[in-house]
Amino acid sequence: MYYETGPPDVFRYEDVPDPACPPGCVLIEVEAISIEGGDTLHRAGGVLTVTPHVVGYQCAGTIREVGADVTDRHVGQRVVATMLSGSHAELVAVPTLVTWPIPDGADVIAAACVPVAFGTADDCLFEFGHLRAGETVLIQAGAGGVGLAAIQLAKRAGATVIATASSDDRLARLGEFGLDHPVNYSRDDWVDVVRTITGGRGVELAVDSVGGRVLDGSLQCLAYRGRAITVGNAGREQRRPDISPLAMGNRSLTGVFLGAEIASERAYRMIAGLLDDVVEGRLHVVVDRTYPLSEAAAAHAYIESRQAFGRVVLIP
Ligand SMILES: NC(=O)c1ccc[n+]([C@@H]2O[C@H](COP(=O)([O-])OP(=O)(O)OC[C@H]3O[C@@H](n4cnc5c(N)ncnc54)[C@H](OP(=O)(O)O)[C@@H]3O)[C@@H](O)[C@H]2O)c1
Repeated sequence: MYYETGPPDVFRYEDVPDPACPPGCVLIEVEAISIEGGDTLHRAGGVLTVTPHVVGYQCAGTIREVGADVTDRHVGQRVVATMLSGSHAELVAVPTLVTWPIPDGADVIAAACVPVAFGTADDCLFEFGHLRAGETVLIQAGAGGVGLAAIQLAKRAGATVIATASSDDRLARLGEFGLDHPVNYSRDDWVDVVRTITGGRGVELAVDSVGGRVLDGSLQCLAYRGRAITVGNAGREQRRPDISPLAMGNRSLTGVFLGAEIASERAYRMIAGLLDDVVEGRLHVVVDRTYPLSEAAAAHAYIESRQAFGRVVLIP
């Protein structure tokens, strides 16, 4: 938890009262916490709705208690769950409609990493990005959680995949997940590199979870009628995008927020399908490291060092 936002050392490892289990909810004994990009952003400078604040959007574990009116979940069942806050804990209570049962024998750590990253990537590419087979997509920050999911989903949909990262080492590892063209965007000429890869045409779709100057570059990489998706601000730069490349090329920029869709029947089913794909081995979760929950500060610091490849997971 933290009492103020800031660098990773704002974390305190303390006891708080156990959460109640209201009607329609389940109380989960947490076994694995996937640290989401939004978790680090909140800790760094988000709004504290309560103090102290227990951060975290996603975890998996075993149901200890079911609230009144709950008929479709049972004690002892394993689920992965999303929430507005509270995953960095041993216990969390959430409405059942944001829980997905984990099949018996499936890896709880991998399951803990699925809904937000894969659901967001899927919505960016298909529901809002309208990606079609044969198109070329640029995925920014390909070695992050959303990026790795998007690379795999775009490739299996028949797209040509260009992805960026800040190091050649991590780019080299993305090949086995479907990356066709690696681009190191810590180099100044990366927009030209993307344009060259596409023979000067540009990409039909850009999925941008980094924002700031990188988002400006995403818009510059678009083909005629190209679509860009803005889905995050991992780069932590506060600036408005330069939208001047849009109008003359009939290009578009669309925002995506999974949180506004996640409780819909469509998104629930979409995420259930993605979880199934991971459990059956058709899609892959990459876990870089695990840390004990008590070492959340070290885990967040490792992510912010930009060395992580895929997810970093906390174990209570
Ligand atoms: N709108 C939504 O519904 C939604 C849903 C999920 C996530 N998001 C947002 O999408 C973004 C990515 O989420 P994620 O879960 O994929 O995060 P993540 O796993 O932590 O990956 C973030 C990636 O961003 C890159 N990055 C660029 N500048 C960075 C910086 N200054 N500090 C740290 N990383 C930096 C890093 O790659 P390089 O070092 O290679 O650049 C890193 O791999 C976050 O902003 C998150 O809030 C939005």
